[in-house]
Amino acid sequence: MGEIDRKRWVEGRVDSVHRWTEKLYSIRVHADINPFTAGQFTKLGLEIDGELVSRPYSFVNAPDDDMLEFYFVIVPDGPLTSRMVQLQPDDAIQVMRNGSGFLTLNEVPDARHLWMLSTGTAIGPFLSILRTDVPWQRFEKIVLVHAVRLAEELSFSKIIESISASHPAQFQFIPFVSREAAQGALQARIPAAIEDGRLEGRAGMTLSAEDSQVMLCGNPDMVKDTRTVLKARGLERNRRRAPGHVSVENYW
Ligand SMILES: Cc1cc2nc3c(=O)[nH]c(=O)nc-3n(C[C@H](O)[C@H](O)[C@H](O)COP(=O)(O)OP(=O)(O)OC[C@H]3O[C@@H](n4cnc5c(N)ncnc54)[C@H](O)[C@@H]3O)c2cc1C
Ligand SMILES: NC(=O)c1ccc[n+]([C@@H]2O[C@H](COP(=O)([O-])OP(=O)(O)OC[C@H]3O[C@@H](n4cnc5c(N)ncnc54)[C@H](OP(=O)(O)O)[C@@H]3O)[C@@H](O)[C@H]2O)c1
Repeated sequence: MGEIDRKRWVEGRVDSVHRWTEKLYSIRVHADINPFTAGQFTKLGLEIDGELVSRPYSFVNAPDDDMLEFYFVIVPDGPLTSRMVQLQPDDAIQVMRNGSGFLTLNEVPDARHLWMLSTGTAIGPFLSILRTDVPWQRFEKIVLVHAVRLAEELSFSKIIESISASHPAQFQFIPFVSREAAQGALQARIPAAIEDGRLEGRAGMTLSAEDSQVMLCGNPDMVKDTRTVLKARGLERNRRRAPGHVSVENYW
């Protein structure tokens, strides 16, 4: 294999691989990377058949944690995730030295309410953000939505409970489970539940251009369909040169 560019890549060590379900895992890694901003991603890479194969993964940990954590789903026939799941403690993993990405609160204009809407593994960057002080200082109310196919895919319940316990009046977690009935969860997709009012009904808050900032992350079809329903409510894409209400990150 060619030399790995050490200006860009740090050799990290696997601490542990935690299995949430047959398909969903967290990997915890020690790596001496540069500081990142909550909500950003880095790249993880493994040498496979003499090549460095790498993909982007969002940080789940807060920026001041020593241990890095990434949450991933095994993609059938995916070259990297099928290898990542076989890693053992102390194995080497390449981690890009600098974080990237703009799904960060410094890109989000002020508002009363912050809505964080995710599918699947894309809850990760929101957990990183929620484990910093900034969102609690900037927003009156914060809603975290995690939309999954099956109830067993609602990972991180302990972390979410602890965020909730620290900010009981400010924070709400709303799970969506689309492919089975699950207690406490909405059985729906995010855009449909915005259109028919179920999400706002559950949150007890309205999505409006006046009061809301929305962050969307995960399945690109969810991101696209949600942008469409939000646009119909007057919420526009947020851009640096033209501040709006909706900040997005697609996972594929
Ligand atoms: C900015 C960014 C951040 C990302 N952060 C994460 C993360 O934190 N966790 C994570 O698991 N993945 C994340 N991804 C996706 C990740 O980079 C890989 O694409 C994924 O892990 C699959 O890698 P692979 O080599 O096995 O298959 P690939 O060949 O890369 O992917 C094959 C196909 O799998 C599907 N797919 C990819 N990622 C996902 C996913 N997360 N959930 C459901 N279906 C998916 C898509 O249909 C994709 O075309 C992120 C992607 C981007 C662009
Ligand atoms: N085995 C298979 O047949 C099969 C098929 C597709 C993908 N996969 C693989 O399985 C994994 C899926 O991961 P995942 O379940 O975490 O992610 P996902 O497919 O993105 O599903 C997560 C949630 O997003 C919802 N969603 C999907 N499209 C949406 C849209 N257009 N608008 C709003 N919500 C939408 C899903 O609802 P719904 O339940 O209503 O879709 C589900 O609740 C991937 O690795 C993928 O490659 C497997």
